[in-house]
Amino acid sequence: MNSKRLNLALVFGGRSGEHDVSLMSARSVMSSIDPEKYQVWQIGITRKGDWLTGQGALETFENHDFEALQPAILLKEGKTLNLYALNEGKLEKVSDIDVIFPILHGPYGEDGTIQGYFEMLDVAYVGAGVLGSSLAMDKGLTKDVMLNKDFPVLAYGLFTRNAIENNIEAVVEESETIANYPLFIKPANLGSSVGISKAKNREELLKALRLAAKYDRRILVERGINAREIEVSVLGNEALIVSEPGEVIPGDEFYSYDDKYIDGVAQTLIPADLSPEIIEHIQNIAVQVYKALDCAGLARVDFLMDRDTNEIFFSEINTMPGFTPISMYPKLLNHGGITYTELIDRLIALALERKADKDKTSRSVKA
Ligand SMILES: Nc1ncnc2c1ncn2[C@@H]1O[C@H](COP(=O)(O)OP(=O)(O)O)[C@@H](O)[C@H]1O
Ligand SMILES: [Mg+2]
Repeated sequence: MNSKRLNLALVFGGRSGEHDVSLMSARSVMSSIDPEKYQVWQIGITRKGDWLTGQGALETFENHDFEALQPAILLKEGKTLNLYALNEGKLEKVSDIDVIFPILHGPYGEDGTIQGYFEMLDVAYVGAGVLGSSLAMDKGLTKDVMLNKDFPVLAYGLFTRNAIENNIEAVVEESETIANYPLFIKPANLGSSVGISKAKNREELLKALRLAAKYDRRILVERGINAREIEVSVLGNEALIVSEPGEVIPGDEFYSYDDKYIDGVAQTLIPADLSPEIIEHIQNIAVQVYKALDCAGLARVDFLMDRDTNEIFFSEINTMPGFTPISMYPKLLNHGGITYTELIDRLIALALERKADKDKTSRSVKA
């Protein structure tokens, strides 16, 4: 056994609707991570938010059987972060932890909340920090930043649940000034197309607003276009690797939840069939978006391309994209020659690099 192996905490599951997607991503990481370099300690977060650890935690999560696991706690003791398990009322040290890989998607995983916790614990972790994660999670705020930078986005408006509950007529009226139908209605802070609808008339808009308001306090209404869906992977902190664009060809009328996870008829095309000029344009915007939102480690940047005019619009950015070997993010990088195992390696190295960079920040007024 190599004594220099890094102790890595793999955190999976979580409180979001994308809990199961996270388990799939974690399973893929477990089967591909280099065991010579990393000793992996598994921490699962249940849908209710309990942190559990133990032998084969991932498998027990997959089987919905949590009996054999113990409550997990991370404790910062001086410069060391330690993982403890609570066993019959007693804390038992499991291991010290060098780096955390939170392979969590959606709210409470990808939105800055857990990143804030890791910041408090002063530990290196994979992916974007608090600001990048939370900005990227909110589709409305992301677009506000994009507009400020003059990046192309589809016309949109943001409404609160309160406005929808109390004066839906006014919301409808204002929505209809954004663009002609069809309009897309989305909860601002979800993923996986949950709560998203395409409305072709006022009646559908009313239904869509009510549905989206079930999932979030902040609702986005957006101009709908007949679009090609183009995605790019970005890897890095300062020096960035940008993949060639890939294309998603949805099986449904749009790339819906069922299409993503149930029917699975959506196809991916790598690389997308685009002109060199458009590829460069898309890659350029992807890098600028990544920097503007203070992303780190990884992100998948998604675009919509108008089929009628070939115009490119920034659509959304995912700071913890689907991460199985058949997910778009690793596949695009793999097309560029980075294997899945190497990608995991690089992400961990980037986490350590970012922590070292943060540690350079002076905390004394005397600088
Ligand atoms: N303005 C739009 N015009 C056309 N299609 C859209 C628009 N917005 C979203 N879609 C469709 O809905 C899908 C989900 O929307 P998206 O904003 O990507 O949310 P999610 O975070 O759930 O993936 C997209 O992949 C696309 O198929
Ligand atoms: Mg999307």
